[in-house]
Amino acid sequence: MKTIRTTAAMAAWRRRLHREGVTIGFVPTMGALHDGHRSLIRAARMTCDTVVVSIFVNPTQFGPTEDLSNYPRQLGLDRALCLTEGVDVVFAPERRTMYPPGAQTVVAVPAIARRWEGEARPHHFQGVATIVTKLLCLVQPDITWFGQKDYQQAALVQQLMKDLNFPGRLIVHPTVRDSDGLALSSRNIYLSKIHRQAAPVLFRALEAGSAAIHAGERRGASIQRRMARVVAQEPLAVLEYLAVCDPITLEPVSRLPRRVVLLGALRIGRIRLLDNTLVSFRDKV
Ligand code: PAF
Repeated sequence: MKTIRTTAAMAAWRRRLHREGVTIGFVPTMGALHDGHRSLIRAARMTCDTVVVSIFVNPTQFGPTEDLSNYPRQLGLDRALCLTEGVDVVFAPERRTMYPPGAQTVVAVPAIARRWEGEARPHHFQGVATIVTKLLCLVQPDITWFGQKDYQQAALVQQLMKDLNFPGRLIVHPTVRDSDGLALSSRNIYLSKIHRQAAPVLFRALEAGSAAIHAGERRGASIQRRMARVVAQEPLAVLEYLAVCDPITLEPVSRLPRRVVLLGALRIGRIRLLDNTLVSFRDKV
């Protein structure tokens, strides 16, 4: 396994591989790799000749009051996981090679970034769209894997790749969960024991929303209220949003189309938790 630290070395490696005609699978990450990342890497390993994992805590997607300096960094452990999973290249650039002095171009996907995480974290998605564009230009993957846990991020990248004519394909991989339903996230390690016990409430709320749809409820507001009632039962949870949305535009729906995404975010202590579930149904006519 090779570790590449500069954009120039990454571009040179990519040019060489292009001549060999192999397929490249790409998993972009900010490190602190867990079993959710592992499942993305395994899917890439099974599908492509060569697998690249990027590890870069991207400063431009953090707000001034967010946890950039505290974000978990463990390159040694991450490299070990990648080695075990048969990754070919870890691309772990320094900040100055990704954003050299004078860099000023940004990428924005305004409509998808407008609501939900975009409202809670202004500038976050511009940072994500910019770094993902830069990574895709450097790695030029045939297939890129994103986790479904960050649903809005995956939807935004899908739109970005379409709008900017990136030739590769995006695969959104199902969320990996602990046995009590909590979606795996690099930030979960910061949950205290008592907060960890409270955290699956978000998953339970989404499950309640999904159950209501399968029981025949078709009104977005009513499903939203059912989910909110579940969260209200957990005193440690501070609800940010629960929404019933179109799975592509992420706009809220009042009458359900055949497929919706239920999105949720809440705070437990200082940790924000995100989760979502896709629900499809077919009404009898
Ligand atoms: O989901 C993440 O880990 C990051 O937002 C990403 C896509 C690697 C961009 O920094």
